[in-house]
Amino acid sequence: MASRLPVSLRDTFTTQSGSRPGRLLAFNLDLLRNILLVLFLLRWTRKAVVLLYGYGPIGTLAQLWQPFRAFLYRSFLSLPGISGKVAAQVNEGIGKIEKGLLPTGPDVVRYATLPKEGWGKDKVLEELGKIEGMKHTRWEEGRVSGAVYHGGKDLVDVQTKAWGMFSVANPIHPDVFPGVRKMEAEIVSMVLALFNAPEDAAGVTTSGGTESILMACLGARNKAYKERGVTEPEMIIPHTAHAAFLKACEYFNITARMVPCPAPSYKVSTRTISRLVNRNTILIVGSAPNYPHGVIDDITALSRIALRKNIPLHVDCCLGSFMMPYLERAGFESEPFDFRLKGVTSISVDTHKYGFAPKGNSTVLYRNKQLRAYQYFITPDWPGGVYGSPSIAGSRPGALIAGCWASMMSMGEDGYIKACHSIVSTRSNIEDAIKNDERLSSLSVIGRPLVSVVAFRSDIISIWEIADGMSARGWHLNALQSPPGVHVAVTVPIVPVWKELVEDLATVVTELREKREQAIAKGEKPQGGKGDAVALYGVAGSLPDKTIVRDLARGFLDTLYKA
Ligand SMILES: *Cc1c(COP(=O)(O)O)cnc(C)c1O
Ligand SMILES: *[C@@H]1O[C@H](CO)[C@@H](O)[C@H](O)[C@H]1NC(C)=O
Ligand SMILES: *[C@@H]1O[C@H](CO)[C@@H](O)[C@H](O)[C@H]1NC(C)=O
Repeated sequence: MASRLPVSLRDTFTTQSGSRPGRLLAFNLDLLRNILLVLFLLRWTRKAVVLLYGYGPIGTLAQLWQPFRAFLYRSFLSLPGISGKVAAQVNEGIGKIEKGLLPTGPDVVRYATLPKEGWGKDKVLEELGKIEGMKHTRWEEGRVSGAVYHGGKDLVDVQTKAWGMFSVANPIHPDVFPGVRKMEAEIVSMVLALFNAPEDAAGVTTSGGTESILMACLGARNKAYKERGVTEPEMIIPHTAHAAFLKACEYFNITARMVPCPAPSYKVSTRTISRLVNRNTILIVGSAPNYPHGVIDDITALSRIALRKNIPLHVDCCLGSFMMPYLERAGFESEPFDFRLKGVTSISVDTHKYGFAPKGNSTVLYRNKQLRAYQYFITPDWPGGVYGSPSIAGSRPGALIAGCWASMMSMGEDGYIKACHSIVSTRSNIEDAIKNDERLSSLSVIGRPLVSVVAFRSDIISIWEIADGMSARGWHLNALQSPPGVHVAVTVPIVPVWKELVEDLATVVTELREKREQAIAKGEKPQGGKGDAVALYGVAGSLPDKTIVRDLARGFLDTLYKA
């Protein structure tokens, strides 16, 4: 029998072919090899079956074709002569980013090293005043989608006072700062109640939605490993779910199984989710609502799948935060999304979004204490003492907890219901304008938004040119990709200015349409614009391989730390 063992090894075992132990050994080795081969084949067959069953034959081919196409394109880009040009263009792009972000002018002083002698209080405050006054997009006038969720003067005053009172507090020392521990526990309890959590439910506070999501994914991974021995974890994630889930996959080495969210509802395909579940699945994800389109996934159906297959289900309510729980009481239509659905095991809720707490605050909630314990970090034999911490951070700012507690107490139920009413009404007004205003007839709303975000697209004009046109008028809207779109996340500062937004949108769209019609009349191909959104998304969308986009994004991140 032909053997694939290295010759020297084979000789060692078969030279005394006459002797029985030798033959037995050779036979056992063959057997072992065959078993390994079968296991190997089984493993790949299993992987193929998971893909084929989940995505269907065409979906599977597309999944396999993508990386191959990207590889071909990457090889093309690295050809001599081409790679130099690409690098030059990337550098030019990064140069543009820097020019846009770094302050310039004769009176800009940069402090790249410590002052030799400390400044007096007056000088520090004076310089802070200048920095605060740097040229920026006017969020104060409601010009920014998302980003600043409240910004009302009274609430900011309360937060600042709360901060000042607890500026040295650190909840890592609960005996030294008992008040901070108390407030933190109360915040979690209040949020749990808001989401109809059962008796045994539990939660923790974190530094933001991303950390909440990372913790929920880590907990699910640890649970699956401890209870079922899963060593090749997979997570089932809607295409429209927040990027933080992909971050979790990258940080914690979890395979992401992405699920399409097809038009016209743009909700995640629950059929695909159900088919993708296998023994390596550690978590199913749904959004209420998602960031790109503000659409709520069918959490009821997801809960049913989670229960049937006995897999944890995380609902990302980071954006929904304090709006989702109050939709009905504010007089709007809602959909089930919280712990009342028995399959929901964890929920992320950003107190720093529509809870109006200062930035750096979020919570993650679990159906029971055991689920929460899976995210804890405990090391009993550290020379520094027995060490345990609930989430990623060690030391944490007590001031933020005080700021969050103060915000929630000053808003109260009536405050949140009022906020929900004005924000969701404003979203609905903008949505109606897009649907009914003649001047906006070339736009269409994506899906059926129920909360604060409304996204739109166009089959006729370049949607990213609209984003650039709005930027030129001082608005900062969010550009989306696959499908190309733009969204507005309504926040308190936007409520009083939504009509101006619609008017400016109508002007921009009309201009673009006229430009397009003129071009067609002259028999030319309509030209795309050259603004930032067009440059980034227009190019990125057409590239099979995203190396260039990654390089640009890396340049952007580097720029953030240029003094
Ligand atoms: C904002 C957001 C998050 C978390 O973002 P952070 O910036 O880390 O707070 C998660 N999911 C959705 C849907 C969001 O909109
Ligand atoms: C990630 O997990 C896979 C199994 O799913 C494993 O083969 C691989 O070695 C892991 N990578 C790292 C860096 O741990
Ligand atoms: C607020 O943020 C800090 C870290 O940024 C975190 O440690 C703390 O737990 C958060 N508190 C709340 C209530 O979200």
